[in-house]
Amino acid sequence: MRRKLAAGNWKMNGTGDDLAMLKDLAGAHSDPGCEILICPPAPLIHRAATTLQGSAITIGGQDCHPRTTGAHTGDTSAAMLVDAGARYVITGHSERRADHGEQDADVRTKTTTALEAGLQVIVCLGESLAQREAGNTLDVIGAQLSASVPDGVTGKTVVIAYEPIWAIGTGKVPTLAQIGEVHDFIRARLKDRFGAQNGQSFRLLYGGSVKPGNAAEIFAVPNVDGALVGGASLGVADFSPIIAALLGAS
Ligand code: 13P
Repeated sequence: MRRKLAAGNWKMNGTGDDLAMLKDLAGAHSDPGCEILICPPAPLIHRAATTLQGSAITIGGQDCHPRTTGAHTGDTSAAMLVDAGARYVITGHSERRADHGEQDADVRTKTTTALEAGLQVIVCLGESLAQREAGNTLDVIGAQLSASVPDGVTGKTVVIAYEPIWAIGTGKVPTLAQIGEVHDFIRARLKDRFGAQNGQSFRLLYGGSVKPGNAAEIFAVPNVDGALVGGASLGVADFSPIIAALLGAS
């Protein structure tokens, strides 16, 4: 059985005032029956982790540097995330690929570095609208999966998030059949590469305009084990019903 995961990616949103939301969220889900993760901006990680001590909610980072230490002004290492209280990190988000020119090889190195630091890693994959319209979605996802995910990993510490770029922050969501097709494809590739048992153990998240109104139907799609939620993770009023929908999914 794969433990379901509701993950919130706050992106570059939130200051200290927003930590109150975490207390409310923790209060609403004291014994959630699934994993709940919030990835706030780096300066909030330590305070968020302290705020949530003893709660069922875990904190993660949104990125880490591929190297362990050194002259990299403005960057955050995986060990720093751990020290601040993070247990997860996101790698390969399409906004980092677009804003910072990150390539699959960078994502792979970051993932390895993060795993070595003891973090669990959510590796993000996703096609552009042009790639989907050209009929290349599965080729793109397959290539990203091969090149972004290191060899020798397991479903214990690596999670894969499918986030179509055109669905992020747009209110556009793929059809359930399109989500199912990509998730089934990722599952098959993971089994091919890592063996049937290990491949079956990776959690696969969907991300891109997940809202209270569409969460339940998305979570009912086979091989969807949770969500990576952007805008709707910023407030309890939206994120809490998404968590409830995940718990209701069989
Ligand atoms: P939205 O939920 O705001 O579309 O963002 C999705 C996302 O990019 C999560 O990482």
